[in-house]
This record gives sequence, C-alpha cells and structure tokens, in this order.
Amino acid sequence: MSERTFSIIKPDAVRKGVTAAILAQIEEAGFKIVAIKRASISRAQAEGFYAVHAGKPFFAGLTEFMSSGPIFPMVLEKENAIADLRKLMGATNPAQAEEGTIRKKYAESIGENAIHGSDGEETATFEIGYFFAGIELK
Ligand code: CMP
Repeated sequence: MSERTFSIIKPDAVRKGVTAAILAQIEEAGFKIVAIKRASISRAQAEGFYAVHAGKPFFAGLTEFMSSGPIFPMVLEKENAIADLRKLMGATNPAQAEEGTIRKKYAESIGENAIHGSDGEETATFEIGYFFAGIELK
C-alpha cells in the first residue's frame, strides 16, 4: 500500500544550489511529490518541529541551523515511503553514509546533512501536519 512521508531539503543544500538535483534523485527513486513549498522558519518554529530532541546536546545548533535560511518541506508518496526515503538519504552522519546516497553526495556534517526524513508513521503524521494543511495534500 502506498505510504506518505515527510521530508525537508535543509538550508545547507538550498544554499549550495542542489535542491533540484536532490528532487530529481527522489523522483528517480519512484517517489511522487504530493506537496512542496519554500519556507523560512523561525527559531521557535524549528524548536516545535524538533521538540522530541529538546534537551539533547545538539538541539540548540540544530534549531539555529534549521532557521538559518530557506528550506523546502515536502510530502512524498510511494510504497514503503518512510523506510525507502531513509535508505535513499543515507546515514545521519554523512561520513557513514553509503555511496550514492543523498547525504553522501551533498551533506557536510552530522549537523548540516542536506535532508530530513520522518523516522516512523507517527512522526510522519506529526511532521506533515506541522507544515501542510489538509487542503494542500490532495
Ligand atoms: P534529522 O533527520 O533532521 O533529525 C535530527 C537532526 O539532528 C539530525 O537530522 C541531524 O542533522 C541533527 N544532529 C546534529 N547533531 C547530531 C548528533 N550528534 N546526533 C544526531 N543528530 C544530530
């Protein structure tokens, strides 16, 4: 059955001008782009999005980085979308990411790692709702 996941092209990748290259790789892997927009989020909005990580040592850096420039939040659909996107992204730390993955190709560090993808069904539902209204998801 078809599944939806949530993804963000992060500020480092947007600054580098690799947004379109990442989207092409995502489409080539069989994902449909259900919704996408350009957005700039505040520190508080980044803190709300990453609330599960509040208190972790990297939280301040993460929320500062995510509010440092434009991002492209998007909703993606395919069979097994959540797990397949995470495979396509590669490991959180690009140094450990497999050859050919998005993070291996475009990410700088564990903090500035080009792309986000939901890690489970519940997270995907929360994250889609954080950025998109139901009417944008037809
Ligand atoms: P993301 O998938 O967006 O979810 C949480 C983010 O925290 C993660 O990607 C990383 O970019 C970021 N992060 C920064 N430092 C760390 C760290 N030491 N361990 C895990 N995640 C980190």
